[in-house]
Amino acid sequence: MSLVEQLFRVKPIAMLEADLAGEHRLRRALGPWALTSLGVGAIIGAGIFVLTGLAAHEYAGPALVLSFVIAGLGCAFAALCYAEFAAMIPVAGSAYTYAYATLGELLAWIIGWDLILEYGMASATVAHGWSKYFLHLLELFGIHLPPAITSDPFSTPEAYFNLPAAGIVLVVTTILVIGIRESATFNATMVAVKLAVILFVIFMGAQYVNPQNWEPFLPFGWKGVAAGAAYVFFAYIGFDSVSTQAEEARNPQRDVPIGIIASLAICTALYIGVAAVLTGMVPYTEIDVDAPLAAAFARYGFNAAVLIISVGAVAGITSVLLVLMLSQPRVFFAMARDGLLPEEFFGRVHPRFRTPHRSTILTGTVVAIVAGLLPIQALAEMVNIGTLFAFVVVCSAVLIMRYTNPDQPRPFRTPFFPLVPILGILFNLGMMFSLGSHNWLRLAAWLAIGLAIYFAYSRHHSRLAKSKAIPLRRARRS
Ligand code: ALA
Repeated sequence: MSLVEQLFRVKPIAMLEADLAGEHRLRRALGPWALTSLGVGAIIGAGIFVLTGLAAHEYAGPALVLSFVIAGLGCAFAALCYAEFAAMIPVAGSAYTYAYATLGELLAWIIGWDLILEYGMASATVAHGWSKYFLHLLELFGIHLPPAITSDPFSTPEAYFNLPAAGIVLVVTTILVIGIRESATFNATMVAVKLAVILFVIFMGAQYVNPQNWEPFLPFGWKGVAAGAAYVFFAYIGFDSVSTQAEEARNPQRDVPIGIIASLAICTALYIGVAAVLTGMVPYTEIDVDAPLAAAFARYGFNAAVLIISVGAVAGITSVLLVLMLSQPRVFFAMARDGLLPEEFFGRVHPRFRTPHRSTILTGTVVAIVAGLLPIQALAEMVNIGTLFAFVVVCSAVLIMRYTNPDQPRPFRTPFFPLVPILGILFNLGMMFSLGSHNWLRLAAWLAIGLAIYFAYSRHHSRLAKSKAIPLRRARRS
């Protein structure tokens, strides 16, 4: 097989189904409500509880609401494209699996490598955000940990390591290795806690809003709004996790698109509400960048609210961390099953716990070190550029596939074609450009490392390449 042929060879749907048959089949138990709830559980976390502070303070001011609208629209266009893929290939997996089945091995590798950046670095960001509310909570009880172990050396010169951030990662890693799966009940409880706290912020906070704080509305101009959007984009990450539940959905072709779109719509509405209230309660120049929502209420001496928000944030952010750190080894697992990563290491499950323990421990160790040493802003930006890039690829793929594979059954079709995928590409590329050249360099470096691994290892071990050659057109149709 020639190199070009290998790079663009797609994994036949029949082969995907064969992979599934070899595994434990999951019960198809999830309906539209459960899927939406899973999405909301994976979305609401450090983004809204922590990153909003810096976004309002340094990028957008009161126009943060517009930043949330722009980032939400970019995600909505991408979500509609994700939904088309999720309904077309309703097996467990993620953008990596879709890309392999439709765009070929090289792009699948790039997306898989990019997802590692998304899940791994996002876990570190979320852990960092968790530590801020955790410290806030301790302070409420008069416990003060020394700064040397509560921040990273880049944000606080006298600090060595963010111990709480690394600590929560190790706790979650242990839970995931032992295999206490996040049950539907646990998720539903977490979603209820988060929704209650966010609604509490909106409705209680509304009483402290002083409309004068909304002026000037655009202190940093439209450029600031765009930069704010590219930053708070992080708050929306996670809706794609609904697509990874496709195999457990009762009626995936209908319910997965509903779950993706409904969870995103709910979070967008809540985020806009929180942004409006926060910037109305506190002049944007005085918004706290560590625990902005709790600090806004502390300003008015409303200590019960501070406690409620801090407990809700710590619990809610933990559940996001669980989902992200559960997803990462699954991406490794899928890539190892295809031979693109060493199966010995990434594809093994623990004999007793039946979990991918090695890749979970590797992920946990790296995430704990990164969360302890790097500042949250740099981490969030890195995650965002990687995820925005994945969204651009998914939107482009939907566009291309309508022309290359017009006959493939599509139970859900992205509406207003080709407008929605094109807008998805433009919005998400626009946000990428708002992230500054240093982030492009980091992304380029990450992809360069990925390509080096692909050409040095994965290409030679690809299971698809070793299987019987199937002509491209037939492979796509099969
Ligand atoms: N959207 C998730 C969060 O904000 C990743 O924590």
